[in-house]
Amino acid sequence: MEGPQSFTPGPLVLLVLLLGPAWHTAAQRCPQTCICDNSRRHVACRHQNLTEVPSTIPEPTQRLDLQGNLLKAIPPAAFQDLPHLTHLDLRHCGVELVAEGAFRGLGRLLLLNLASNRLSALPQEALDGLGSLRRLELEGNRLEELRPGTFGALGALATLNLAHNALVYLPAMAFQGLLRMRWLRLSHNALSVLAPEALAGLPALRRLGLHHNELQALPGAALSQARGLARLELGHNPLTYAGEEDGLALPGLRELRLDRGALQALGPRAFAHCPRLHTLDLRGNQLDTLPPLQGPGQLRRLRLQGNPLWCGCQARPLLEWLARARVRADGACRGPRRLRAEALDALRPSDLRCPGEAAWEAGEEDEEAAAGEEPAAGGPRAPPRPPMREEPAAAPCPAACACAAESRHAGCAGRGLRAVPRGFPDGTQLLDLRRNHFPSVPRAAFPGLSHLLSLHLQHCGVAELQAGALAGLDRLLYLYLSDNQLSGLSAAALEGAPRLGYLYLERNRFQQVPAAALGALPSLFSLHLRDNAVDRLAPGDLAAARALRWLYLSGNRIAHVAPGALGPARELEKLHLDGNQLREVPTRALEGLPALLELQLAGNPLRALQDGAFEPVGRSLQHLYLNSSGLEQIAPRAFSGLGPGLQSLYLQKNQLRALPALPNLSQLELIDLSGNPLHCDCQLLPLHRWLTGLNLRVGATCASPPSARGQRVKAATTIFEACPGWTARKAKQTPASRASARRSAIKRRH
Ligand SMILES: *[C@@H]1O[C@H](CO)[C@@H](O)[C@H](O)[C@H]1NC(C)=O
Ligand SMILES: *[C@@H]1O[C@H](CO)[C@@H](O)[C@H](O)[C@H]1NC(C)=O
Ligand SMILES: *[C@@H]1O[C@H](CO)[C@@H](O)[C@H](O)[C@H]1NC(C)=O
Repeated sequence: MEGPQSFTPGPLVLLVLLLGPAWHTAAQRCPQTCICDNSRRHVACRHQNLTEVPSTIPEPTQRLDLQGNLLKAIPPAAFQDLPHLTHLDLRHCGVELVAEGAFRGLGRLLLLNLASNRLSALPQEALDGLGSLRRLELEGNRLEELRPGTFGALGALATLNLAHNALVYLPAMAFQGLLRMRWLRLSHNALSVLAPEALAGLPALRRLGLHHNELQALPGAALSQARGLARLELGHNPLTYAGEEDGLALPGLRELRLDRGALQALGPRAFAHCPRLHTLDLRGNQLDTLPPLQGPGQLRRLRLQGNPLWCGCQARPLLEWLARARVRADGACRGPRRLRAEALDALRPSDLRCPGEAAWEAGEEDEEAAAGEEPAAGGPRAPPRPPMREEPAAAPCPAACACAAESRHAGCAGRGLRAVPRGFPDGTQLLDLRRNHFPSVPRAAFPGLSHLLSLHLQHCGVAELQAGALAGLDRLLYLYLSDNQLSGLSAAALEGAPRLGYLYLERNRFQQVPAAALGALPSLFSLHLRDNAVDRLAPGDLAAARALRWLYLSGNRIAHVAPGALGPARELEKLHLDGNQLREVPTRALEGLPALLELQLAGNPLRALQDGAFEPVGRSLQHLYLNSSGLEQIAPRAFSGLGPGLQSLYLQKNQLRALPALPNLSQLELIDLSGNPLHCDCQLLPLHRWLTGLNLRVGATCASPPSARGQRVKAATTIFEACPGWTARKAKQTPASRASARRSAIKRRH
């Protein structure tokens, strides 16, 4: 690890202290507890139990080392008498609080080291005044949350170290203002989610450390915001799969580390949008094979050690690709026995064989059977998986399951189990029990699994979770209960998993939101209730869901959302209510949701939009879905309150004959008006003008009058030229349309 810079008082310091009268005055001004090297303008006051910054430090001091004191709080303007400071070391000072403006006056500071303190939050203006700062060390604190704007004053910062904190989530624009930052370290936190725009506004970022977190899927959308990344470290996260759908697109990425995760499979196009990728590190995952990777044509090094690679005929395309693409791969075969421990890059495709092929040697089929890899009689032949229980120094593992030591992953899916097995290895992080049969999950059903992060119980016929069922799952973050028979959940059932962040309850039998259960889940972040039978949202349903950010209720029967039903969830960012029975936009229920970014209302029988329908969320909303909602009418001020924050608006597949112009939506990046029977006469002139200025593909097509049928609204100038007012205003561009044209031009250049 690159240690934070510091200095040790050398012999020169002692010399200075022993010297005669020439130094006398200066030495006098040195605080008793400190050592001053006035020639170099260094002052060190280490490990002195100081509770405040000494007041007599010489004004010209450039480097001040205060590490190992007892400062506890840094008050406002604590260093205002030291305007020449360039290096300030405050490590190990037990700092719990940095007041607003604490560092004001330190306009020349280059390095601020606050590592190994006890900060759990940073006030918005704590770092004001540090306009020259190049490096900020915050490693080893207790930060749980970053507020957007915290780093806004640090326009010169190049390195920010936030490793070893307690961050669970990165909000949008968390690093706004860090225009010169090249290296961001976020490793060893508890990050499970990055907002899609968490890394926006970092044009200079080249290296990002996200290893040792709790990411279960590749946060492709968020990462792709950091377009300039060359090096990305994502190892030691419980990722099980990466594919093109994760959306990773990094044109300059050279090195990607995905080592020591829980990868079981990789999509062939997972890195298709990383054309310059040179080194891919997949060591210590659970890959038994790998498809030829499409896209990263500059890939030269593929690290596969510690994966249970199976060198049967299925691996031929991999070998052929490695040779063709000149990719150097390490890693060795786990089997079949004939090739065990052979280095992958020493094999030729013809060495790889499968049973039934001419060259298949007698006796190998017995070996396969002996290894327990034969599929059940009559079942399809799955690619053989290596026998997990041959792990060296095998940890205990229940008979019906496979336990992988490297990934701390236990799988017992589809084994016809009727009770949860016992005896998983200590430290197991992921337990897959899908497709078994547990109609009632009893009390303390998962003993000894205090390290479990992810529990998969889909398709298990679960109708009940008894009180205390999850007892002892202190760290559980993901609970998958989709495709079961649950109609309720009690708080008592969920006690024991206080850190649960993600609860998946799709396709069960809920008729209402399990409000009481949410009370036991103070950290619940994402609640998935899609495709149940919920018919209303009542006041109190989300009263306990104060941390909830994403709520998925698509495909239920909701006809009514009571005012006040959603408001307690003040952090809510995504609300999916599509495919329900709503006959109007639940405007009053949207009050109290100041952070809402995405509202899904598609596929409800809305028919009309009233004035001010989205007013309560106008300031925050970015994405609005109103497609397939039977819309015939949109009131002139239906979208009032929505402004430049709105990025996408989906109105396709409705019955709209007309639509007001929406000049306030000046920052739209997507608007879909296709599949509407627009009537192109002069009343549509404002829309025509607005769309023309927008410079986006909008899909708006005239359905009538017959002379215009099939023409794009933007292109139907013959119709609009004939309208009163056309010539007078034709050439006039609104500021909004100019801004939008500029944006499109910028996009095209990229
Ligand atoms: C600081 O306090 C500790 C504990 O009270 C003590 O052992 C140590 O000697 C003190 N150090 C100094 C330099 O006073
Ligand atoms: C609405 O449009 C979005 C984006 O095109 C699409 O994903 C979604 O399925 C549509 N919803 C309905 C109900 O048609
Ligand atoms: C557009 O925004 C302005 C300023 O906020 C507001 O006065 C006006 O009513 C808005 N127009 C519409 C159609 O919402």
